[in-house]
Amino acid sequence: MSATDSQPPRQFASRRLGVLISGRGSNLQALIAAIDRGQLDARIVVVISNRADAGGLDLARGAGIEALVISHRDFATRDDFDARLAQELRDRQVDLICLAGFMRLVGARLLDAFPNAVLNIHPSLLPAFPGVDAQQQALRHGVKVTGATVHLVTGELDAGPIIVQASVPVLETDTVATLSARVLAEEHRLYPEAVRLVLDGRWRIDGRRFMTGA
Ligand code: GRF
Repeated sequence: MSATDSQPPRQFASRRLGVLISGRGSNLQALIAAIDRGQLDARIVVVISNRADAGGLDLARGAGIEALVISHRDFATRDDFDARLAQELRDRQVDLICLAGFMRLVGARLLDAFPNAVLNIHPSLLPAFPGVDAQQQALRHGVKVTGATVHLVTGELDAGPIIVQASVPVLETDTVATLSARVLAEEHRLYPEAVRLVLDGRWRIDGRRFMTGA
């Protein structure tokens, strides 16, 4: 391995993260905690919410992170909204974007500005149960195992190359709430791990496959 091989790609050299949220922000909190514990070598430079009432905004501010509200309602088109997000993220030299409960589809204007640099976490074992209410979909379907997935974001909903997954059992006594809590605990472990893997840069995409081997 040459000296350059052992370095992360220039793309991620400064390890600056932007986190996009719409709600309570427990995955944001898990990323903040992993950074504080020294388990994730990165810096969250901005948190952006499309909703002013997102609880994650207070979490961010409490951690001394800049927190912005950019409402999609203030833009005529998705492209305009995405272009504004891309601009704010570029202005802060963000290397990698983490969607963490961000309830908007992201489109080409953002994805083209950050190629292979937008991650999402989803509460199922994709490709099962994409979209909203994944835990309820899993219960209704009657699967015995579900879980969480972190994947690269593409233009297609919850469909990009899978970076890491973790499974959890579905119990006969489960409700949406108990199953969601079990999945969420795995999400909080998984997201920092996925971000670390991506920032370390020793990966490639082969077809749909995210590969870390030689
Ligand atoms: C998580 O279950 C995540 O997988 C999904 O939305 C939820 C966000 O929760 N995309 P939080 O805001 O991170 O607590």
